[in-house]
Amino acid sequence: MQRTLVLLKPDCVERRLIGRVINRFEDKGLNIIAMKLIRITPDLAKQHYAEHVSKPFYPGLESFITAAPVVAIVLEGLEAIQVVRDMLGATSGLKASPGTIRGDFSSSRQMNLVHASDGEEASKREIDLYFKPEEILEHTPVL
Ligand code: CMP
Repeated sequence: MQRTLVLLKPDCVERRLIGRVINRFEDKGLNIIAMKLIRITPDLAKQHYAEHVSKPFYPGLESFITAAPVVAIVLEGLEAIQVVRDMLGATSGLKASPGTIRGDFSSSRQMNLVHASDGEEASKREIDLYFKPEEILEHTPVL
C-alpha cells in the first residue's frame, strides 16, 4: 500500500468540482484516510513548492495557490502515487489527455486543478506538511 498527498487547488474549489474529482479517486478504489479544507499561507506555499521557488512562474503560482481554500487529502491504495499521477494527466491542462482529470477539466498550465505527490519521498514530506499523525485515520474497508 502507498499513500499520496493530493491538493484540490483553488480553481477546483471555486469551480465547485470537489465532489466530481473525489468521485474519480473513489471510483478507482483509492481510500481517503485524511481530508481537510485549508487556506495555504505564503510560508506553506514556499515549503510545499521549495523546488519551484526560484522559477519564473513561482510568484504567480504562490498568488494562485494562496488565493482561496484548497482541499488537502491523503489517499491510500496499491501503487497510489503513480495511479493518481496517471489519473491527473500531464501538468498542463492543454497537454493532458482526454479522460484524465486535467485533460477533462483544465485548459491551463497553472490552474491545473489538482496536485499529487510525484514520488515516495515527496509523498512523505508533503503528508507531514499538511497533516499531524493523529489526523490520518487508517482504515481497512469492510465491504
Ligand atoms: P503541480 O503539480 O502542483 O506542481 C507545480 C505547479 O506549478 C504545477 O502543478 C502548476 O500549477 C504550476 N506550474 C508548473 N509549470 C508551470 C508553468 N510553466 N507556468 C505556470 N505554472 C506552472
